[in-house]
Amino acid sequence: DPGDGDAFAASQDLLLRTCVVGAGVMGTGIAYTCACHGLPVRLKDVRASALQHSLQEMERLLARRSDATGAAVRAQLDYQGFECASVVIEAVVDNLGIKNKVLGEVEGLVAEDAVLLSNTSSLRIDDLATALQRPQNFAGMHFFNPAPVMPLVEVIRGRQTSDYAVQTAVKQALAMGKIPIVVRDGPGFLVNRILMAYIHAFLRLLAEGVDYQRIDRVTEAFGWPMGPAYLEDVVGLDVGTQSCDLIFASYPERMPALPRNAFRVLLDAGLYGQKGGAGFYLYR
Ligand code: CAA
Repeated sequence: DPGDGDAFAASQDLLLRTCVVGAGVMGTGIAYTCACHGLPVRLKDVRASALQHSLQEMERLLARRSDATGAAVRAQLDYQGFECASVVIEAVVDNLGIKNKVLGEVEGLVAEDAVLLSNTSSLRIDDLATALQRPQNFAGMHFFNPAPVMPLVEVIRGRQTSDYAVQTAVKQALAMGKIPIVVRDGPGFLVNRILMAYIHAFLRLLAEGVDYQRIDRVTEAFGWPMGPAYLEDVVGLDVGTQSCDLIFASYPERMPALPRNAFRVLLDAGLYGQKGGAGFYLYR
């Protein structure tokens, strides 16, 4: 619904003024979660096709719900309304140069006290903050995929992040129905340091010739919601490979580098996981 009209600008509740930049898998999930929790949200992307795809995905998710109440998501190609945003969640591709450019652009448009939050799985908050004039108003906010259902959110405090920015991020997470934990800046933050040790063991088993479908079946029989191959398809081979490379490089003693691992092989073959229709499994 593009018609949230003046409700966004007129809202007295600061938490009701959320903007999301980037209409990929994560940005879509984040915007949808805001709307489901009654927060009218503006979703910005540079590609009309991405916005269209994102709105279709939200329609699909809404159709599955018995109770389809919520606020509006306004999809837009420009930064209209960002001047009244209290919180901007940046969820563009996990690339330092691109994120720096987008964050710098957004900072120039928003109010002085607006808080910028970056959804990143593997970049350092201090590196992202270098693009900003007001790094005190900036923190990380790491959602897990699928963002509408995963309860945990990491709020990452950079070296210059203020208490106000951390508190705002925590309030934002709570308003979205999430469970926030505040963590320090560092490779993999908290969750991916644990998750990647598991993924490292999985990749080593594959290198030894164990069948990934067997590993998935065993993991599910153990009681986990999905096995590591299926999980990687959900996360995306591009995101997963980048996270592995970065985290393995940061903890070489615990997770020695695996340069030609199965994720890299799939990615080089153009298989991105669920979002591309194929990864370890086929989704077409
Ligand atoms: N978007 C929105 N809602 C979704 C969804 C999606 N992509 N997928 C499932 N759901 C909803 C369903 O609609 C359903 O809702 P209702 O109960 O209201 O009907 C609910 O979630 C349960 O779904 P299903 O019954 O279809 O399937 P399930 O019981 O297997 O649950 C799951 C799905 C929650 C995704 C579960 O499989 C799971 O927890 N998987 C593990 C996911 C995980 O570990 N994610 C972390 C990835 S790591 C990461 O993101 C970090 C990084 O930095 C790389």
